[in-house]
Amino acid sequence: MARVTFEEISAADFFYRNRDIAGFTNPSRAIFAAIRELVENSLDAAESLKIPPDIYVRLSYEGAVGTGTQVYRLRVEDNGIGVPPRHIPSAFGQILFGSKYKLKQQRGTFGLGGKMAILYGQITTHKPACVISSTGMSKIYKYKLMIDIQRNRPLILDRKIMINKTRWRGTIVEFSLEGDYFRAMPKILEYFKQTAMVNPYANLTFVDPKGRLYKFTRVTTEMPDPPKETLPHPYGVDVELLQRLINATPYRNMLEFLRYHFHRVGDKTAQKFLEFSNIRPSKNPKRLSHEEIVRLMHMLKKFKEFLPPDASCLSPLGENLLRAGIVKELKPEFVAVHQRRPATYAGHPFIVEVAIAYGGEIPKKEGFVIYRFANRIPLLYDEASDVSVRVINSMNWRRYKVAPDMPIAILVHICSTKVPYKTVGKEFIADRPEVRREIANGLREVARRLRRFLTRREHVYREKKRLGIFSKYLPKIAQFSTQLAGKEKAPDVKKLLRSVRRFGTEET
Ligand SMILES: Nc1ncnc2c1ncn2[C@@H]1O[C@H](COP(=O)(O)OP(=O)(O)O)[C@@H](O)[C@H]1O
Ligand SMILES: [Mg+2]
Repeated sequence: MARVTFEEISAADFFYRNRDIAGFTNPSRAIFAAIRELVENSLDAAESLKIPPDIYVRLSYEGAVGTGTQVYRLRVEDNGIGVPPRHIPSAFGQILFGSKYKLKQQRGTFGLGGKMAILYGQITTHKPACVISSTGMSKIYKYKLMIDIQRNRPLILDRKIMINKTRWRGTIVEFSLEGDYFRAMPKILEYFKQTAMVNPYANLTFVDPKGRLYKFTRVTTEMPDPPKETLPHPYGVDVELLQRLINATPYRNMLEFLRYHFHRVGDKTAQKFLEFSNIRPSKNPKRLSHEEIVRLMHMLKKFKEFLPPDASCLSPLGENLLRAGIVKELKPEFVAVHQRRPATYAGHPFIVEVAIAYGGEIPKKEGFVIYRFANRIPLLYDEASDVSVRVINSMNWRRYKVAPDMPIAILVHICSTKVPYKTVGKEFIADRPEVRREIANGLREVARRLRRFLTRREHVYREKKRLGIFSKYLPKIAQFSTQLAGKEKAPDVKKLLRSVRRFGTEET
């Protein structure tokens, strides 16, 4: 009989074996994903301090490996919050370690992205990563490190401490990785452009391996308010979460337990709920049996009177910033933006923002140009599977006077504490009915405004044509009739022309 052997692998080992699921599928995707993950960390780091981000990305060529694949050195610098020195090794050398396992809107979620890039660099080049960071205090820390993949621990190869004379604050991450920049280039440039669109307060600089400089300059220093951390909403809890809260709680009765550990539960609501579910308010949560915990979870979901989560844990862009970003990157003739009111799915709050733009520098293509964003991250792959695209395709655009060959861009931004991504690589959003409804309602609103614009434009166009005909023939008619009447001086047609000009023409 064959022997079966059992073993355990670490989280780092798991992602080493399954890097596809984090977006590191091939040399082209890998280089895109690495840039994206580091830029997102930098944006999060600056935004958490409400400082307009200054991010510098440099990708330089180090040598060739095989056909299409090269070794590159990637360097990303930011002016963000910096990493406290004692956390640097784990933040960059231990998979599933991070500061973002909180209930508030952030780009990072899993404690994975930046490290996945470093891990990919390590397994393709076997070179250490270099991290330099300061929180703006008197010292700057420089670490050279690798990941011990089997144990999922950082390996510190070198550490230097430098005096921070200028009180610099920020982080620099640099490492080598294999990739195919020339295949990834269109996506990478598109990524920067779209990132600039939804982060109009950021300066982004990218220097590519050929030394070409791409600069996206901020048009405003106004920034959305950073999100606040929130408590779990009763509709979103499960047994595991309840058990953890019970283990950790200092409260000795159910009334306080509910009041202080859940979002939107005050004294009155807690009392009503306990009555509804037949639980004694004085009961000690630590004394709940397994069955009682399971029942508590079901009752929490059944009770209809909890208020929906409020949106202070979210940080949408807002209509003004969204408009500024679109105008800056697309220079359209017309743009309509709309922010929906906060909504929820499975206890998670979310907000949808949409926009439609017409003309200007919108790239011409068959069908719409669709820009999808989640928590201010552009989503560039798997468009066809995304909920926004499905909603857009299911709408009857002829109702809005939209023809297939028009230069139209549609933008959908979803922000949430938990974006319903389908994959760890964060490429597209699942089709949740609540999310779909919000997107559809938002799009109808901006589409109506587009229709008004297109109607007016059509009207103006027809009017111009009509006036064109008048101004062509009226002088001739005037001349002939003067001759016929045997008069010398033809009447002034300008006056006549002015009188046939209708309201509407003047609007252009
Ligand atoms: N540029 C940076 N500035 C400040 N902190 C950073 C930066 N990059 C990474 N970090 C810290 O390292 C942690 C891990 O990053 P990462 O592996 O990308 O996971 P995630 O972003 O999902 O938390 C982050 O949670 C953050 O605390
Ligand atoms: Mg990250």
